[in-house]
Amino acid sequence: MLRVGMLTSGGDCQALNAAMRGVAKSLYEQCSEVEIYGFEDGYKGLIRCQYHIMKPTEFSGILNQGGTILGTSRTPFKRISEPDEDGSDKILSMISTYKKLKLDCLVVLGGNGSHKTANLLSQKGLNVLTMPKTIDNDLYGTDMSFGFQSAIDIAANTIDCIHSTAASHSRVFIVELMGHKTGWLTLYAGMAAGADIILIPEIPYDIDIVADAIRKRTKSGKHFTIIAAAEGAVSKEEAQLTKSELKAKRKKEEYPSAAYRIGAEIFQKTGQEVRVTVPGHVQRGGQPCAYDRVLATRLGAKTAELILEKKYGYMTCVKENKIDVIPISEVAGKTKLVDADSDIIKQAKLIGLSFGDESV
Ligand code: F6P
Repeated sequence: MLRVGMLTSGGDCQALNAAMRGVAKSLYEQCSEVEIYGFEDGYKGLIRCQYHIMKPTEFSGILNQGGTILGTSRTPFKRISEPDEDGSDKILSMISTYKKLKLDCLVVLGGNGSHKTANLLSQKGLNVLTMPKTIDNDLYGTDMSFGFQSAIDIAANTIDCIHSTAASHSRVFIVELMGHKTGWLTLYAGMAAGADIILIPEIPYDIDIVADAIRKRTKSGKHFTIIAAAEGAVSKEEAQLTKSELKAKRKKEEYPSAAYRIGAEIFQKTGQEVRVTVPGHVQRGGQPCAYDRVLATRLGAKTAELILEKKYGYMTCVKENKIDVIPISEVAGKTKLVDADSDIIKQAKLIGLSFGDESV
């Protein structure tokens, strides 16, 4: 009997179910004796031994379903060595659950934080395989994570909707998109929906340059401006601060989020009326787009192939349009950032998009 543990960890995203279905269907198809142990709410289920043996029917009808049928939670890696609520050691508990259930391997669907824990479990001798999920697309080692394209569609649609009202009212609209450390989602959604200014953490902005870009549009007869700003957008001065200095600065400012802060600065500089839209978790919700369904299915099938070959310690990934694998140890602890000198940024600048970093 092949025994496979499975869990979804961290923030949910679209196509988690499609990915699990991809693994399960392939295993059921290729192996006559397989049991899949679904852990509830991410690593929490593994720590507390909360699971159920999944029925093949649970994987039917979920290809286009958002969220995760297993539930998820955040189990921060930085607190993984602290005792669980009942005082037990989280790491030892995870290992003990794995051994008690006689698992052949554990499949983790997760983002950056989840990969650190997966790597730790792998180093402790567990057979672990991972799959890249996140709307942020910031996992190192894969060109694409599932969830990203679906989130772009939602975020771009939000900006599309803002366009008509922005034009009618001659206002500056700021749409704040998810991404604390990286701006992939904001970059792609902003470009897809024709934002005028894009502000992302990797390219710190100068508020005077942002204000100039708005004035330039006004002068050319365009009476509205749409700004796509990542929740982690920072100014050039802020980019020089340490993590704790920035935290202290944010605390003092008392703006609910980045877009409100930037909006206040723009109003002060230009006198133009500013409105803020924060779609928030809408970006992670609803059905996966067709691209994500295919991607998740392919990554799932590849994960199953690795299980059948008993090749462990890898994340399935996308490299140059091909489904590939990369050691989890190479992924854990790194973040894939937008390169300010990359082609996409150059092309965006060529069409006149401002990133608030240099005058246009
Ligand atoms: O990592 C995915 C993500 O959606 C980020 O873009 C966002 O900053 C964060 O999760 C929000 O986390 P939570 O759902 O815990 O509020």
